[in-house]
Amino acid sequence: MTTRRSILKFSGVAAATGLAGCATATGINPLIPPVAKVVQSPDQVRPTAATMGAAPASHFEARQKPTYVAQTNDPLGHSRADNLFWNDIMMEHAMFFVQLMPGPELAGPRRQAEEFQRLFTQQLERSRDIRADNMVAFNQSSIDLARRFSDYKKTMREQQASGKIRSLVWPLFFTHTAREADRFAARLALYNRRQIEFDRREVVTFWGATMGEHSAFIAHLLDPDEKLLIEQANRLERTFRQTGPRDVPGDDIMKAANEVLDFKTVGEKGIYEGKIKSIISPPLASHVRREAVRFIDELKRTQAG
Ligand SMILES: [Fe+2]
Repeated sequence: MTTRRSILKFSGVAAATGLAGCATATGINPLIPPVAKVVQSPDQVRPTAATMGAAPASHFEARQKPTYVAQTNDPLGHSRADNLFWNDIMMEHAMFFVQLMPGPELAGPRRQAEEFQRLFTQQLERSRDIRADNMVAFNQSSIDLARRFSDYKKTMREQQASGKIRSLVWPLFFTHTAREADRFAARLALYNRRQIEFDRREVVTFWGATMGEHSAFIAHLLDPDEKLLIEQANRLERTFRQTGPRDVPGDDIMKAANEVLDFKTVGEKGIYEGKIKSIISPPLASHVRREAVRFIDELKRTQAG
């Protein structure tokens, strides 16, 4: 509600100051304020503690999906949260591939993606019941599944890049989603060795690359008329690319993380309400926003530690 109010308020200000006319002439969307001025919507930016029996949200209600984070700072708490969060993310990757592989020529890879979607839906459902006595085995089953999916993504990347398949999935989207699968598996392997610490440099490197690439994807999926949003997305991409693998001091990275979350939160709402022109689906908008929530949670944990 807060974000919606701020969008509407900004729209009113823009109209009153004559900016809206200028914006229309140049194709800039007047409904979206500069990211720094956005007030976050609490229901979209708040993480949810993962508990025993936590419900994996239906993907028909993508916008209401919680972003699970560890309730207790121990291997069990992190295992529950990561399985509830990442198995859902992996399921959505498979769903996006299915959507982006049309026609009879792509029936083979599409069928494989459908199978991964089914398997991760099942794994997500089972993630509700992770207990101390089944944690290691459950984590291992997720690791095996994530590694298989990562192999598929890497193979598809080569095929798409070399023109052997002609899907609508960019090679970088395969690379990006394979990195997420590898990271998911790597974290679970740590929990099985009873290691839970987040390494700040690793968190910044992984999520910085992820946020930068999200910004680039968003810029390419917006309608070419959405010039202001495309500029904002490009600026965010540059910010995260410059951040790179450096061990960023102070609050710089947290500020950038909050900016990208603001941008995605407003973007998701605008897409859902039909106020932004794009080919971004609401589940994709929710997906990238939830990953930003997760980034901020992990960043806070590295600061607390
Ligand atoms: Fe993702």
